[in-house]
Amino acid sequence: MFDTTVAGIALSTWGYNGVLNGPVIRAKTGDTLNAPVTNALAESTSVHWHGLALRNDADGVPVVTQPAIKPGTNFDYTFRLNQPGTYWYHSHVDMQRERGLSGPLIIEDPREPLLYDQEWVILLDDWLDGITGTPDDVLDELSMGMDMSGMDMPMTHMLMGATSTYLGGDAGDVRIPAHLFNGKAAQDAEVFQSRPGNRIRLRIINAAGDTAYRVGIPGQKITLTHTDGFPVQHEDVDAVVLGMGERIDAILTVQDGFTPLLAIPEGKNGRAYGLISTGSGTAPDAGALPSTLDGQMTDGGRLTADESVLLRDKAPDRLHTVRLTGSMGKYDWSINGRRFDMTKPFAGAFDISLDERVQVKMINDTSMWHPMHLHGHSFQLANNGARKDTVIVRPKETVTFEFDADNPGQWIAHCHNAYHAERGMIGLFSYVR
Ligand code: C2O
Ligand code: CU
Repeated sequence: MFDTTVAGIALSTWGYNGVLNGPVIRAKTGDTLNAPVTNALAESTSVHWHGLALRNDADGVPVVTQPAIKPGTNFDYTFRLNQPGTYWYHSHVDMQRERGLSGPLIIEDPREPLLYDQEWVILLDDWLDGITGTPDDVLDELSMGMDMSGMDMPMTHMLMGATSTYLGGDAGDVRIPAHLFNGKAAQDAEVFQSRPGNRIRLRIINAAGDTAYRVGIPGQKITLTHTDGFPVQHEDVDAVVLGMGERIDAILTVQDGFTPLLAIPEGKNGRAYGLISTGSGTAPDAGALPSTLDGQMTDGGRLTADESVLLRDKAPDRLHTVRLTGSMGKYDWSINGRRFDMTKPFAGAFDISLDERVQVKMINDTSMWHPMHLHGHSFQLANNGARKDTVIVRPKETVTFEFDADNPGQWIAHCHNAYHAERGMIGLFSYVR
């Protein structure tokens, strides 16, 4: 628990090393990361290293891969970093991630092929802890569902009518008082110093619980180079949408003066941004900046893999159909109609075997989009799509991907909407050596 100020409001929250949205952890491919964790919280915790194909016992999922770290005790995470890219880490217990327990993990490539002058790591977050309530208050309210007939309860947190055409309808469940760009709300926007002509590599992480962000610079294209750590065929766009858990790397060329990099929440009010400054002119104030991003738009799930990271051609050995089920009304988010039970995590696991090529067909039976995440592997989307670990699945859409079962263990797959996962939209892939 530490004191901080978010959007001008003094509050206490939980974080890593007393920093909102964690310190940036930086290492190189091939390094062994040692992260000793001391739990100074009043409740048990764990740390998950999102997107890494790491050893199973370092994956940070209580009951499934380790016992939760009790208050006042330590746990040592030690694992080899096998892949370069933009990743992040966060608590994998209850709603803790929705406090400040998340941060960027950047793995540099000793043979980096991209040319750039500077790097800007950007963590986006939708913040409410200490402003409108706690994330647990929100979960409690949402869990009551919409069948509140007879009850005279005002809804404080539930958001109705948030719509995003891009995401195919209902954009989110939760009213968000502050959207943060590296821990800062719009009024305290971060300023990144650069020079005209510099190429900046953006490493953007969506760490939010319930908000997709549309990121871009009004009137200037950015070049998308990676998603979820893996290279893609470069694409110039006006804006890119990131679901919760997704990452995008992009290159932009700096122009003279102040350049705003906007992060607009899909279907919700407010926005976050950062400014690039070349040292001349005066910073625009929030009111002077556009509040929309239009034009050519995409998301990581619609990009094409760079040839160097394509899975080798192979017919699938195993097929699994994963139906996303549940509704806002009952708030009973589930997979194939089954809500994940933390006390019986292995019940209903998806069977796979070592070295199989696994094809997963995700069918979204719900009327909401879900950012679906698989632990311990990076999958490839159909038709030479991107290598990813988190992908947007729109309402009624089917998304097919394949992965190689080359990292034995117990790996969960879940919606990265914090509230959906907590209510049960989690499945498990299990195999041994
Ligand atoms: Cu970032 Cu299990 O997730
Ligand atoms: Cu979901």
